[in-house]
Amino acid sequence: MTLRGKHIIAGLTGSIAAYKAAMLVRLLTKEGAEVQIVMTPTAKQFISPLTMATLSKHPVRTDFFNPENGEWNSHVNMGIWADALLIAPATANTIAKMATGTADNLLLTTCLSARCPVWVAPAMDTDMFLHPATIRNIETLRQRGVHLIEPAAGELASGLEGKGRMEEPEIIVKRLAEYFVPKDFHGRKILITAGPTQEPIDPVRFIGNYSTGKMGYALAKELAQRGAEVLLIAGPTEHRPQHPNITLTGVQTAAEMYDAAVKAFPDCAAAILTAAVADFTPANVYPQKITEKKEFALPLLPTKDIAAELGRMKQAQQILAGFALETHNETEHAQQKLQNKNFDFIVLNSLNDAGAGFGYDTNRISILSREGNIRRFDLKNKTEVAEDIANHLLTCLKHCIII
Ligand code: C5P
Repeated sequence: MTLRGKHIIAGLTGSIAAYKAAMLVRLLTKEGAEVQIVMTPTAKQFISPLTMATLSKHPVRTDFFNPENGEWNSHVNMGIWADALLIAPATANTIAKMATGTADNLLLTTCLSARCPVWVAPAMDTDMFLHPATIRNIETLRQRGVHLIEPAAGELASGLEGKGRMEEPEIIVKRLAEYFVPKDFHGRKILITAGPTQEPIDPVRFIGNYSTGKMGYALAKELAQRGAEVLLIAGPTEHRPQHPNITLTGVQTAAEMYDAAVKAFPDCAAAILTAAVADFTPANVYPQKITEKKEFALPLLPTKDIAAELGRMKQAQQILAGFALETHNETEHAQQKLQNKNFDFIVLNSLNDAGAGFGYDTNRISILSREGNIRRFDLKNKTEVAEDIANHLLTCLKHCIII
């Protein structure tokens, strides 16, 4: 319920993509938003006001006043009521009128009265979208602070292919939800290590592990969305999160991750170490590919322990947390790690739990604190798990400052 209690005006304009607005409004209300719909006269030809009124649980507004009883639809009051104005789909015509400040229908007057942030999700044929006039109009809106939800590329109603399809409702809702996430980590720099490391054996082989980085990336994204400046040090993985608040340092080996983490930590309020760092690395890297097919021994040296080093460096006002992925005696092993590495808390997940561990989109965690408390959480998707961990971290950081 990321939009709980938010007042949203959903503006619909005359585009074939108006059918997607039904799903959009459904999703907005599911996220807890109260939605008031304003349709342009042409929008009513694409989707029925009855459908939209039923989904939003409010009468749809189109005209300045009700012709039967003269009741006035006050765009000024709506503009004051709204926390967000979302125009989806937005036609080239409405975008052009918004850019010039035209006010010839209820939606446009509402745009002029709105004091809240405005989102526009264009939907039009690709040639219209790429027309210099539309490009300039969108730029004008952007400069005014309007949030543009870029259309996607693909098949268009005209039969043409190209950019112009209104973005999918799920993504539009996500964009709004991200905006309203409380920025409770603002001003804090947080270090996250994530993913596996790879220890080269020869130019084509390495010692690795099954980590995909998903948990660390979910955490980096959660913290970034909540206003933190995130320094993400990540081993080699396929997908890495992108967010303006995330600065990524890509590394390959445990030694590279160690150097990057030790350098970054002194400036950070906290570090959460989610990376599955190799514990051993080949003593020597073969300069050429090993081709001979016979039994051979590969001497391994222990890698430097990043967590233990950060634990040594940690200052009183800093928080350090790690992960423990265990197969047996989980709590006992996690508690040992918590002490040995001087963590403030440790997040325990067990390979014995269905749906938890490498590669899954879900995780079941417990958070063990230095004071000996254990908080157990349900199996959740990794985004929600990241929220729980971030909340715990925030409590620790606030506690640190009070002391
Ligand atoms: O490998 P182990 O289970 O001991 O890892 C526990 C925690 O220590 C994890 O948070 C992991 O990211 C961190 N770690 C590390 N450097 C290592 C090994 C582990 O930072 N060399």
